[in-house]
Amino acid sequence: MSKRLLSLGSFLFILAIVVGALGAPTARAQDDLSGQLEIFSWWSGDEGPALEALIALFNEQHPNVELINATVAGGSGVNARAVLKTRMEGGEPPDSFQVHAGQELIGTWVVADRMEDLSFLYEEQGWYDVFPEGLIDLLSTEDGIWSVPVNIHRSNVMWYNPAKVEEWGIEVPTTWDEFLAVCPTLQDAGVTPLAIGEAWTVNHLWESVALGTLGAEGWNGIWSGETDLAGEDFLKVWDTFGKVLACSNFGDDNASLSWQQAIDRVVDGSAAFNVMGDWAAGYMSTTLGLVPGEGFGYVPSPGTAGTFLMLSDSFGLPVGAPNRDNAIAWLTLLGSKEGQDAFNPLKGSIPARIDGDVTNPDLYNAYLQSAAADWAVDTIVGSLVHGAAANENFNGNFSSVIDLFTASGDPSAASAAFVELCSTSGACGG
Ligand code: GAL
Repeated sequence: MSKRLLSLGSFLFILAIVVGALGAPTARAQDDLSGQLEIFSWWSGDEGPALEALIALFNEQHPNVELINATVAGGSGVNARAVLKTRMEGGEPPDSFQVHAGQELIGTWVVADRMEDLSFLYEEQGWYDVFPEGLIDLLSTEDGIWSVPVNIHRSNVMWYNPAKVEEWGIEVPTTWDEFLAVCPTLQDAGVTPLAIGEAWTVNHLWESVALGTLGAEGWNGIWSGETDLAGEDFLKVWDTFGKVLACSNFGDDNASLSWQQAIDRVVDGSAAFNVMGDWAAGYMSTTLGLVPGEGFGYVPSPGTAGTFLMLSDSFGLPVGAPNRDNAIAWLTLLGSKEGQDAFNPLKGSIPARIDGDVTNPDLYNAYLQSAAADWAVDTIVGSLVHGAAANENFNGNFSSVIDLFTASGDPSAASAAFVELCSTSGACGG
């Protein structure tokens, strides 16, 4: 009898240990965390509010952790990526950093073995069921999943000011030919037809022109090696791009304008249109307080209706992160429904999770609801300029192809330089 009791006792004891051990990762006592957490991104100034909302939530959940918000200003991360590279190569990684889903993550940091596999967190948090499969693929190699996506942004949007468009008596163009047709009318009225900013925003425009000219299949074919880069259609991309630039402030004062300042020109009516990712919706609604559909209008960039040129901001866990547990708590918040519904309404993006509260008009405004509706039905393709489609070698050197074209105006020379970059970077399949 006592032997039986003893063995029942030992059984319960062992059970308690097993349950305790299994429960340990999920039941990580959140407020046991202390010390510091350094997160690194380019979301400063006007781009800061969405990140700050996440940070406020983190501070509530982990009051004993001192969060260091390390930002390096500069749209699309042009400056931040350079600083990050120096830190990573110098063995001083932040605890977690912003990186675009796709080749920017995989082709740079994963191939160099600098990231931790986050499969364990996906399993623990049930994320395999809440992030779209295609997005998880973009974050994965066969060896693991390498970051946590916080949003989905759209690159191919054209913004305008509805009141001004009405005043000028023009239609919002749905193709580049329509845009080129309305260009002289606007110029005659003393209005810049298309506002452009600093160098990366020129590249950003190029990807919309290329997508609008080649279509989704032709765009994907650039990166798989199936699109003929010496063919008529690709030459037409450059030809159209040149004509579009001639209807803009390119070469005038664009180089000194941030993407926000280019948008400001549309808002104040000195320019008619701007092609920019939907962080512009975040800027106009969160920072400028404009109402979508009233203070600003939006359509897919010319020729791209039905296609969603996507990108996703994500955060990863670098190998050697000084405060690994705190970084995991940060990533856990980032991937949670609560975190995504706090961040995205302010950012101008939609949640990466499929269960975000996007139909709630108190959270997600009319623009974001339309983006979510398009995301659900459109053909999805990946952005070049924002890290999804091509590796950093290609992306980092793409400006030199653009420069060559803008200096020479020669589509054949630009196509040849593009082919050359494909071959040196290995970014275009084949
Ligand atoms: C993108 C980034 C967006 C936004 C934008 C402008 O690359 O994914 O979240 O920050 O740059 O800086």
